Amino acid sequence: MQNTAKAKVIVFANQKGGVAKTTTTLNLAVAFAEKGYRVLCVDMDPQGNLTMSQGIDPDGLSESMFDVLVHDLPIVNVIRKREIDIACASIDLAGAEIAMSMKIGRERSLEKAFRPIIHDYDFICIDTPPSLGLLTINALTAASKVIVPVQCEYLSMRGLIQLQNTLHMIRENLNPDVEIEGILPTLMDSRTLHAKEAIEILEENFGDRVFASRIKKTVRFAEAPVKGMSVLKYEPDGMAARSYRDLAKEVLSHGIR
Ligand SMILES: Nc1ncnc2c1ncn2[C@@H]1O[C@H](COP(=O)(O)OP(=O)(O)OP(=O)(O)O)[C@@H](O)[C@H]1O
Ligand SMILES: [Mg+2]
Repeated sequence: MQNTAKAKVIVFANQKGGVAKTTTTLNLAVAFAEKGYRVLCVDMDPQGNLTMSQGIDPDGLSESMFDVLVHDLPIVNVIRKREIDIACASIDLAGAEIAMSMKIGRERSLEKAFRPIIHDYDFICIDTPPSLGLLTINALTAASKVIVPVQCEYLSMRGLIQLQNTLHMIRENLNPDVEIEGILPTLMDSRTLHAKEAIEILEENFGDRVFASRIKKTVRFAEAPVKGMSVLKYEPDGMAARSYRDLAKEVLSHGIR
């Protein structure tokens, strides 16, 4: 039977580095997959961290997201099946912004790449680099929702204004429907007063767009990618796995489309 429903496309974005974009993309995606949803992850970061976190060596790839974005290679050619399906990236993606700048419709390359597969998945989760350049713009143009991981520190909050300005520009010019699904406090050290204060400031400014779920600091998140696994597979009953299952429930309660 032909499935007519389209995937819900979620992008994980924050131009600040090291706030758990990649960690959240993978572990939330695996939490959806555990519930029986069909999930594709897309690595839009030249660092290839998402690709590596499923045990794939970016340097060994003959074709990757670069070829999809720049040469219109069908995305199925770069999808590998692991815990979830993953469209892989390698360092050559760093040249994609310049290569794409010559293309007509350069902001829509990813959206176009999704068209043939958009009915094959329930969720498409896109990891982005720590910048608001053309790769992230492609992701925001192809998506309907944005999840913003934020480290629980005062200085991390300030960057959110810039992200909101970019989103505003995307809505005006490229994708009127894209909206923030939620802001996710990550790398939380619940013992410190500073983390609690930082969350209070977030809630004052963003209200109920801040997820009720919080992701605490634990070394499991550093250990799991070394084994090429999500934390849900690495330590299925651990606190880290549970926190992403809770986040999945929260996102699903908003509806799957
Ligand atoms: N809750 C957590 N507790 C402890 N360490 C974490 C947690 N979440 C992520 N990390 C670790 O913090 C580092 C940064 O995480 P991650 O790579 O997901 O961030 P990122 O936002 O994708 O970074 P970049 O901007 O470079 O792409 C990684 O080493 C990761 O293993
Ligand atoms: Mg990353």
